[in-house]
Amino acid sequence: PIFYPFLDSFSQLAAPQYPKIHLYNEEQVLSWEWSSANNDTRPVVYRVQYKYITSEHWHDVTVKSVGVNCTRIPETQCNFTNARFLRCSSVSLRVRAELGEIVSAWTTGLWFQYYQNVTIGPPKDMLVTPEAASLLIRLSSPFELPRKCGIVFVYYIHYWEEAGVQQVKGPMTCSTILLDNLKPLKVYCLQAEARLSLQTSRPGRLSNISCYETMAKASSKVQQVALISVAIFLVLLALSAHLLFRYKSQVKYWFHTPPRIPSQIEEYLKDPVLPILEALDKESSPEDTWDSVSVISFPAKEDVLQTLESER
Ligand SMILES: *[C@@H]1O[C@H](CO)[C@@H](O)[C@H](O)[C@H]1NC(C)=O
Ligand SMILES: *[C@@H]1O[C@H](CO)[C@@H](O)[C@H](O)[C@H]1NC(C)=O
Ligand SMILES: *[C@@H]1O[C@H](CO)[C@@H](O)[C@H](O)[C@H]1NC(C)=O
Ligand SMILES: *[C@@H]1O[C@H](CO)[C@@H](O)[C@H](O)[C@H]1NC(C)=O
Repeated sequence: PIFYPFLDSFSQLAAPQYPKIHLYNEEQVLSWEWSSANNDTRPVVYRVQYKYITSEHWHDVTVKSVGVNCTRIPETQCNFTNARFLRCSSVSLRVRAELGEIVSAWTTGLWFQYYQNVTIGPPKDMLVTPEAASLLIRLSSPFELPRKCGIVFVYYIHYWEEAGVQQVKGPMTCSTILLDNLKPLKVYCLQAEARLSLQTSRPGRLSNISCYETMAKASSKVQQVALISVAIFLVLLALSAHLLFRYKSQVKYWFHTPPRIPSQIEEYLKDPVLPILEALDKESSPEDTWDSVSVISFPAKEDVLQTLESER
């Protein structure tokens, strides 16, 4: 009898070996190996089956069941990337080889839970804007997550000053991140990372290193405008203080000038017997009118005279 190393005693066909599940972003691929020392010219094909961890029954991976055909396929891999698996539950997989009527044993023990096992790639795009002693970072998610499981992306920024110690900011749910409290006019290098918002989430792949220089602290336009305004204000203030000091007496005079009393009225006030006041007396009491007028006019007039005297 001939010894065939590829046949096992139970099924007479070796089962697929070294199965692997590759989970990266949205990619979901099951692959395996099969050492073909086979002398049979008939092509070997493979069958993949799946079941949810809670279920008893295995199902073929077909277009009808999950949208992907991995039944009687010649390739040593099954690409589930667009399969309609339930992402929130654990999926078990098994695969076997088939050669005509002969089938191998199932290769089992493969299971994954997408959100537990997936490796998340770096954020798709990263836009960095240097600002005053800070860097504004805008990230875009590695891919669109379905909303079903309530899981979102969280972001981390690994950053360091050139030849400095690395620091990490995160996790942050917002994809716009301000790295502040940096030194002005210094070069900082950074890498972005995305993970899933799960306690057990695996570390994500880091983006390539890129470096940026922060801007000076008082470099923003608003600050410049504010500085110029303050400077102009101070110059004007100094100028007016100087003028005030130089022309002190004139200014004092302007401020003390009382409301002008027409000279004719002054005459009347000095000589209360004139007819105009008699006319006024008919409507109001003489004391009231007299008091109010005298209080305003005479001290004011004295002031003016004093001021004029002091100028001499
Ligand atoms: C393959 O099979 C043929 C006969 O079908 C035999 O002559 C040959 O020796 C076999 N080769 C191997 C490597 O077993
Ligand atoms: C799946 O694909 C293989 C070849 O790629 C084909 O032979 C087979 O019939 C397909 N199965 C179904 C159920 O469509
Ligand atoms: C998925 O993660 C679980 C727990 O860490 C592990 O036991 C299992 O082997 C992983 N599956 C794959 C395909 O990596
Ligand atoms: C990151 O760097 C590698 C090699 O240096 C390059 O092949 C790849 O395209 C870069 N990725 C991005 C997103 O720039």
